[in-house]
Amino acid sequence: MTQSQAQKKINRLRQEIEAHNHRYYVLAQPSISDFDFDKLLEELVLLESQFPDLVTPDSPSWRVGGAVTKNFPTVLHRERMISLSNTYSAEDLTEFLNRTKKTLEGEGYPAFSFVAELKFDGIAVSLRYEHGKFVQGATRGDGTAGDEITQNLKTIRTIPLTVQSKPHQALIDQGFEVRGEVFMLKSDFEKLNAERAKLFERSRMSPADAVPAESEPADAAETDASITSVAEPKMKASEKLFANPRNATAGTLKQQDSREVAKRKLTMTAYSLHSPALPNTTTHAERLEILRDLGFNVSTDYRVCHSLEEVQDFLLHWETGRENLSYEIDGAVLKVNEITLQKLLGETSKSPRWAIAYKFSARRAETKLKDVTFQVGRIGTITPVAELDPVRLAGSTISRSTLHNFDETRRLDVRIGDTVILEKSGDVIPKIISVNLEKRPADAREIMPPETCPLCRTPLVRREAEVGLYCPNEQGCAGQIRGRLLHYASRNAMDIENLGEAVVDQLFTASLVRDAGDLYVLTKPQLLELDRFGEKSAENLLAAIAQSKSRSFARLIFGLGIRHVGLATARVLADAFASMTLLQAATFEAFQNTPEIGGTIAQSVADYFLKSETKVLIDKLEAAGVRLQSDVKLKIENAALAGKTVVFTGSLETLSRDAAGQLVLERGGKLSGTVSKKTDYVVAGGEAGSKLEKAKSLGLNILSETEFLNLMDVNK
Ligand code: IVH
Repeated sequence: MTQSQAQKKINRLRQEIEAHNHRYYVLAQPSISDFDFDKLLEELVLLESQFPDLVTPDSPSWRVGGAVTKNFPTVLHRERMISLSNTYSAEDLTEFLNRTKKTLEGEGYPAFSFVAELKFDGIAVSLRYEHGKFVQGATRGDGTAGDEITQNLKTIRTIPLTVQSKPHQALIDQGFEVRGEVFMLKSDFEKLNAERAKLFERSRMSPADAVPAESEPADAAETDASITSVAEPKMKASEKLFANPRNATAGTLKQQDSREVAKRKLTMTAYSLHSPALPNTTTHAERLEILRDLGFNVSTDYRVCHSLEEVQDFLLHWETGRENLSYEIDGAVLKVNEITLQKLLGETSKSPRWAIAYKFSARRAETKLKDVTFQVGRIGTITPVAELDPVRLAGSTISRSTLHNFDETRRLDVRIGDTVILEKSGDVIPKIISVNLEKRPADAREIMPPETCPLCRTPLVRREAEVGLYCPNEQGCAGQIRGRLLHYASRNAMDIENLGEAVVDQLFTASLVRDAGDLYVLTKPQLLELDRFGEKSAENLLAAIAQSKSRSFARLIFGLGIRHVGLATARVLADAFASMTLLQAATFEAFQNTPEIGGTIAQSVADYFLKSETKVLIDKLEAAGVRLQSDVKLKIENAALAGKTVVFTGSLETLSRDAAGQLVLERGGKLSGTVSKKTDYVVAGGEAGSKLEKAKSLGLNILSETEFLNLMDVNK
């Protein structure tokens, strides 16, 4: 084939592919099968690889990815990408509507309308088109500048690579910018997570062991770690799972290899159009329709409202209607429809005065309480757990949920057989918030607190001034031994990978481990005797245990699981008593005289170190070579962050805030919640807001998450 024949063929294929693409992804009216479509695309990719000179930046072959970007360049937005202010209540919303009406009436504009739109829960992007070609795409970033992710965005099939339109020729000639949201369909999100769970299962011996970061309490002192994750047993499969479609979208857009982005199937919906070619006399709704004409994916679910009632109607409809959508929305957006009036109202430094976001309340679902079981925590607490008819709620299936304690079950007046209402607010674990009494069956049974421990049958006791029931068999109860081991191995404590529920159960049942000290004398032959252990998994576990020996002293103290001693208190103790020897020698008074340690904690710590079992455990840890002293002083002198103040803003991708904070503290740094001249570093995660802006205006040192990890020496 000659170059010019190839060119002709390529042109024809491109036109055909983009037309099918538009029919499929934007109009939802495909006219050929997926198989035939893929064949056309393959043909084009092949031809372009034979005639590389003919590859153009707008070729649909980019849809399959291929470009690899090391670092995304930062690009300035031509117009700032400000965000919306949020309201959560009908009253606030009414106030916004009335205020806007009053201002506009005062300015002599009694007639105007609002556009009510869905608030898509994804990642905001801006797309620039010149001469009808998509030339640059960027994330919102801090609103002033974002990451240039053009190649990744080109793989999104609802983003046109070229735009043609006779009626809107001026727009094409003068260039335009489209803003909108990139998101992942709920079904694609579930598929992606299922694949990741499978991958994870293969790479790990027991996927049920990992507890997701989202459900791990920052400070597990009074929480039984084992209970915090029961509501979503599926989520335990991997910390590598995305918590929701939004996180999955953010993670995907950050991929350096656009082929990976292409695989993950993202969607884009357009919600605003900017161009010098557009007269101010157009309304927002008209601009949405122009976007649609140009080939963008524009939701048909917006509504032009002329009264408060119409707005409320819209909200009411979508508050429940959202469940039937194929993607996630987290609220609605109201915008003044007339662009001249938008301009007149203007904006504050943070958000426009002509628009507002209304966030929906937490999600709820009804299901049946089939039974109540009882869990024994590491400090002996008996926790009632609701066994539910599995129900879908905010993207996951819930079949168990903690009922916390018996005061809570009485407060809710919940009975076995009842229909209960589950609520999930934000990304937290769902909880039962009430009972639908109308559906109570005649044979509903009261929840009776057990008299004996469900695991060791020891009669339970009630501790003074505390609500819960406890199993007093501290040393002999399997539930408590198991709970303590799990806590010791948990991420904020000694962080022993692969030592999860299933393995702890095996070790305990085989009488190999009774306390954390026993972990360090485990041998490979012992592990090989156990089910599901092979050479590799045994070695991995032993290596993970050995690695834990060098964890900080504070983590060790936290890992001991002393009642009332969370991570923060453990740090205080590690700083005040620099070694285990000093801690063991300290009296109740010494603890009580430590700043930030109150009477209850002092008593609990003193009691803990008086116990003979504690002495036995610590001797074992010492013999194993576990680090039993603080090296705060030494660290402060050598530390990367000695005396420096660090502020975190926005959401971090790879670390929890707690873990990131710990890295700072371990290196002699200080944490602060507010940005000032005295701040040394501002670490900016995704969607960082006003703090980042302030840091910029003060000319402070701003670090990305990766730069921060490099500074912490974590990535090397
Ligand atoms: S308009 C100045 N419309 O919500 C107005 N935003 O802070 C700019 N969003 O960052 C936004 N759906 O990512 C607008 N229909 C919609 C939206 C929407 C979702 C996001 C957007 C923005 C955030 C609000």
